[in-house]
Amino acid sequence: MTAKTIIVTGASRGLGLAVARDAADLGANVVLFARSAEKLEQEAQAIRDEGGKALAVPGDISLEDDCRRLVEKTVASYGRIDALVNNAGIIEPIAPLAEASIETWRQNLLTNVLGPVMLTQAALPYLRQNRGRVINVSSGASTYAIPGWGAYCTAKGALNQFNRVLSVEEEMVTAVAVRPGVVDTEMQAVIREMGAAGMPESAYQRFVRLRDEGDLPPEAPGGAIAVLALFAPRDWDGEFVAWDEERVQELVRKYATRREG
Ligand SMILES: NC(=O)c1ccc[n+]([C@@H]2O[C@H](COP(=O)([O-])OP(=O)(O)OC[C@H]3O[C@@H](n4cnc5c(N)ncnc54)[C@H](OP(=O)(O)O)[C@@H]3O)[C@@H](O)[C@H]2O)c1
Repeated sequence: MTAKTIIVTGASRGLGLAVARDAADLGANVVLFARSAEKLEQEAQAIRDEGGKALAVPGDISLEDDCRRLVEKTVASYGRIDALVNNAGIIEPIAPLAEASIETWRQNLLTNVLGPVMLTQAALPYLRQNRGRVINVSSGASTYAIPGWGAYCTAKGALNQFNRVLSVEEEMVTAVAVRPGVVDTEMQAVIREMGAAGMPESAYQRFVRLRDEGDLPPEAPGGAIAVLALFAPRDWDGEFVAWDEERVQELVRKYATRREG
């Protein structure tokens, strides 16, 4: 059987890296994308050292040329695209609207919304050919408001809507938005570092408490997202799912045996 090819953005660390590793374990050709070129190449090499297929393409999701180049390099290397995981994201600015600079809002929306839009558009012709999947990594913060997280909440809400739009426009592509839970990554470290100044004390303390209680390691939701990207059923198209809900975990268990090693 021909191996599937998956693009994972924000794969230099955190959740995206966990998705990339797991997709490689599941036998996919993995294309890792993020700005930190050296780290990205190290992680791609580590996957190859384990016997997987991986290519590092450094770039910035907020730049249209970089999105197009990512698609071109993927197709030049592997000849196809079966799945796209729109995972790269930033939390900043952490500040109330009254105090935040519009430039930080612009960068947030460019990274969290327009980046996925630009990359998906560039990849669509190839995704259609293979009845491919787009997984939009969203957040609980897309469904409720956290004071001080205006740009992030707005962006993730828009990403959920983009996911629905894809599902009604693209018959040959399955789009699923996913909520990964609170995951122990650099993003949580940024929240703890900047949240004291930019959020109300009670909201900030919730994230400190979650860390103290032991945040979720990225491998668990990362594994679920890799399985969704490669195998999500067609009738989940347009949905917003939680990584740990029963039907997602059932899918994860179904494909667990395919993991190598
Ligand atoms: N951690 C959580 O609790 C949590 C909860 C809900 C949702 N999420 C979502 O999960 C996703 C991954 O977050 P994470 O927690 O793994 O965060 P993270 O550790 O900060 O990783 C973010 C990734 O995105 C990349 N990135 C950021 N800006 C980029 C840009 N302009 N172009 C290309 N790549 C860029 C970063 O790499 P470079 O810096 O090398 O570019 C990094 O690989 C995000 O969409 C986030 O909103 C996370």
